[in-house]
Amino acid sequence: MVFIEKLKKAELALSVDDVYLAPGLAEVDPQAVDLSTRFSTRVKLLIPLASSPMDTVTEFEMAVAMALLGGIGVVHRNMEIEKQVEIVKKVKEHPPIRTRVLYVEPDTPCGRVLEVMRDAGVRSMPVVSGGRVKGYVHYSEVKAVCRSGLEHPEPKPGEVFSIARLGEAKKLLLEGRLDAVALANFDGVYISTLVYRDVMEETLPAVDESGRLVIAAAISPFDRARALALDRYADALVADVAHFHNAEVLRVSRHLVKELSSDFIVGNIASRRAVEDIASQLDKVDGFRVGLGGGSICTTPEVAGVYIPTLYAVAEVRDAAESLNLKAPVIGDGGIRTPGDIVKVLAAGASVAMVGHMLAGTDEASAPLIAIGNKLYKPYRGMASEGAMVKRFAVDRYARISKKVAEGVEGLVEYKGSIYTFMSKIIEAVKAGFGYVGARNIDELWRKALFIAAKRGGVGVITQT
Ligand code: XMP
Repeated sequence: MVFIEKLKKAELALSVDDVYLAPGLAEVDPQAVDLSTRFSTRVKLLIPLASSPMDTVTEFEMAVAMALLGGIGVVHRNMEIEKQVEIVKKVKEHPPIRTRVLYVEPDTPCGRVLEVMRDAGVRSMPVVSGGRVKGYVHYSEVKAVCRSGLEHPEPKPGEVFSIARLGEAKKLLLEGRLDAVALANFDGVYISTLVYRDVMEETLPAVDESGRLVIAAAISPFDRARALALDRYADALVADVAHFHNAEVLRVSRHLVKELSSDFIVGNIASRRAVEDIASQLDKVDGFRVGLGGGSICTTPEVAGVYIPTLYAVAEVRDAAESLNLKAPVIGDGGIRTPGDIVKVLAAGASVAMVGHMLAGTDEASAPLIAIGNKLYKPYRGMASEGAMVKRFAVDRYARISKKVAEGVEGLVEYKGSIYTFMSKIIEAVKAGFGYVGARNIDELWRKALFIAAKRGGVGVITQT
């Protein structure tokens, strides 16, 4: 009797596929939509996106790209502590603008110099030897040298900039005297090259109070050594536990947070009860990472029979946090595949959408590029997949063996090219979503968005050419 009642009382938990946003009065040009938000108590972002801490997604290049685009990367923890700390430090040292490692050596043959310049689309290029900048070569002069039969172009003197003089370097490029300038550290060692095109297409980066790129790192609350090693270097530490609402996890986290200076994001959670227990037991909560079983590579619903749609969990956690007067932002995580999904999850109360699959095919994702036939792919795998778990125990012999059965799968995703190109389209689309709802910013989206429960019907099947 009780059992049948339980089934009859099964709550309706809507997912991003069950609802759409209703259009509202559009009073704002989508271009003018402000997507700025908070990732955690102190970490501010300019776009509401974070990359998942997964070993096929977020290492150095993804973390830099996400911050340069205005979001944040969460460096995964499937590596030795020292390596994770090194990545975080390197991101902090990166100039808050896109740069490339682009130079020629003094003995590079003339023809090759021209080739490198054409490929990079620049008409000037630093010449570097032994880590030091020897000067610049210029396209027209290199061409003349090649025609005259000489082997190498002679570098001409030119200025090298430290990161502290980034503003001057940009000005020089915009004035058009050079279209690529070398950046060096304070000891004069070459770091990278700033290119005119990147300055022109520059997006505003997400930075900390000192103007350095923001960065987050995944930790396990059981791994105190890792958390303390990353503390202060990373802006936020993100708990990376499948089910944070667990008595033992809460117990160790209660002690851990007392020692942390960086923001601490709990997760993953997916219920009101979890928020209440966290609030009553932890002195410090700077964000809620929300979603359980919703990830594209996740098999928890099949393996364990447990799942809550990310959209539903976000709304429940947000309401629970507000009713306890907690201001920590909600991060929707798992199963967010399209810009439309991002807008829906934000409208349901999230401040940020965390994505893995969406970014896994980009150049900046940490997995290698693979060719099969004439198509390119990148591997993408769940962090609780067989392969990822084997790696974790190989690099960290103190890791807790909490799972004996895999709850994730491994696969390939299609190659998507540069994240910079890909993301600009995603951002445009998200802004369009805000525009339809009539929201100028995320606060207005929360207030104005209305959901309708609908299945899309009546759509003819066409073959795209
Ligand atoms: P998407 O859908 O963006 O989801 O690919 C990424 C999120 O999935 C979670 N994740 C897992 N969940 N088993 C799981 O149940 C796994 O092996 C696994 N690996 C990652 C994680 O929250 C991530 O951000």
